[in-house]
Amino acid sequence: MRHALSVTSECVPLVKTGGLADVAGALPGALVAEGWEMRTLLPGYSVVMDALGKTKAALTFESLFGGPAKVLQASAGGLKLFVLDAPHLFKRDGGPYSDSGGRDWPDNPQRFAVLSLAGARIAAEGAGKWAPDVVHVHDWQAGLTPYYMHRDGTRVPSVMTIHNIAFHGLAPAAQLDQLGLDRADFTESGFEYWGGISALKAGLNFATKLTTVSPSYARELMTPEFGMGLDGVLRQRAEDLSGILNGIDTDVWNPAGDPNVPAYKSPPGKRRAKAALRKEFGLGEADGPLCVVVSRLSDQKGLDLLLDALPALVDRGGQLALLGSGDPTLEGRFRAADNGHPSVAVRIGYDEALSHLMIAGADAIIVPSRFEPCGLTQLYGLRYGTVPIVAYTGGLIDTVIDATPMALRTGVATGFHVHPATADALARALMRATDLYKEGDAWRLMQRNGMKMPVGWERSAAEYAALYASIAPAP
Ligand code: ADP
Ligand code: GLC
Repeated sequence: MRHALSVTSECVPLVKTGGLADVAGALPGALVAEGWEMRTLLPGYSVVMDALGKTKAALTFESLFGGPAKVLQASAGGLKLFVLDAPHLFKRDGGPYSDSGGRDWPDNPQRFAVLSLAGARIAAEGAGKWAPDVVHVHDWQAGLTPYYMHRDGTRVPSVMTIHNIAFHGLAPAAQLDQLGLDRADFTESGFEYWGGISALKAGLNFATKLTTVSPSYARELMTPEFGMGLDGVLRQRAEDLSGILNGIDTDVWNPAGDPNVPAYKSPPGKRRAKAALRKEFGLGEADGPLCVVVSRLSDQKGLDLLLDALPALVDRGGQLALLGSGDPTLEGRFRAADNGHPSVAVRIGYDEALSHLMIAGADAIIVPSRFEPCGLTQLYGLRYGTVPIVAYTGGLIDTVIDATPMALRTGVATGFHVHPATADALARALMRATDLYKEGDAWRLMQRNGMKMPVGWERSAAEYAALYASIAPAP
């Protein structure tokens, strides 16, 4: 087996705020068949430390930004882990990036610089007799890893995956020395970004190869509209940037064996799940489709458009059940939409088990994102015969086949594209969906098509393995 080190700030089943955790948690298992053993380096947040069984110290740091630290070797949740035990930075109540009140930890630049330092040290000297052939880092939180490797002259190749370019990992220039960053690299071709330090840019400039989580998003990222100020950097690295579509864990997301829902193998079997979902949300019978949303409530996800387009659905007998949390304004607007409306039901919060019931029981799932690197919930929808209604952007383009007249005639459609990302276009898509839902047969064919889509990790794991092998040829 060849060795890959994954450096990530979240990973299922230990700690999750979004899809990054799902990807980091599923990729190691999928890579085994490709001949790669992936070990995952994670920060030792309290929730992670509490989940570890037996651990062994693999590396020690006498002092790392104000306290002693260790890299522990452990296994948990079926993963082989390295955990950075640095209590002065990670032993806290609250989330991985913010306190329980939602405020970012002020020392986030230091917290994730140490994660990157630990990754670079494992790359340089190995840990507990294990040494990586390739280092794979995710998002800004691990972005400094390739930089520290460059600084130290470590010759292990690296891959950086962009899951969300909206977060740049900024720190003031005054922290250069403290973060161990060389002033010579405080340049446009290094990690300097508008006078500050960007951990994301460090990764983009110093990793051997760059990937993002869908081919369409890889193209979009190089445009000013989607590049969020880094499109120029990405255009310069166009030859090293590719898109590899996310998969989903088809054991965890399996309608025939999901502990959270009455099992089914084909669309008609969804009936019991739908009844359970209606009961859970207090929704009655209706003529139109029962649509769901399971999402972070943030500007990215375009759910304000759904609020404006909602009449197009409910006036035609459709229903909406939403589970989400995040932006307080959006939370309030959805609560208000629910209030007194018999066809709209909103649950503010985060609930993994309920998300399974919603995706199983619904007729359609709505993902109207303004940008979406890949998106996972539309893939869950396909797998569960729940038709995705998605914005025409990023990974949503690459995973859903729009019900155009020709796609319907040839029987290949799996969902609906919304284009452009406006409330009007979403309203039109909801009307199209409602009409087709009422036609019965055409809808059931779309459901069956979706359930047959290859949404697992096999193909994408092979693409990652090929990429690793291209920069780390077998000796
Ligand atoms: P992102 O990472 O941008 O949030 P993804 O679609 O890639 O978007 O991944 C989101 C993940 O988080 C999915 O697994 C989704 O089911 C889950 N999720 C989001 N919000 C909730 C919620 N309120 N309750 C349960 N799961 C949620
Ligand atoms: C990000 C993106 C999402 C993607 C996920 C996992 O959070 O917003 O589109 O699916 O990362 O790659």
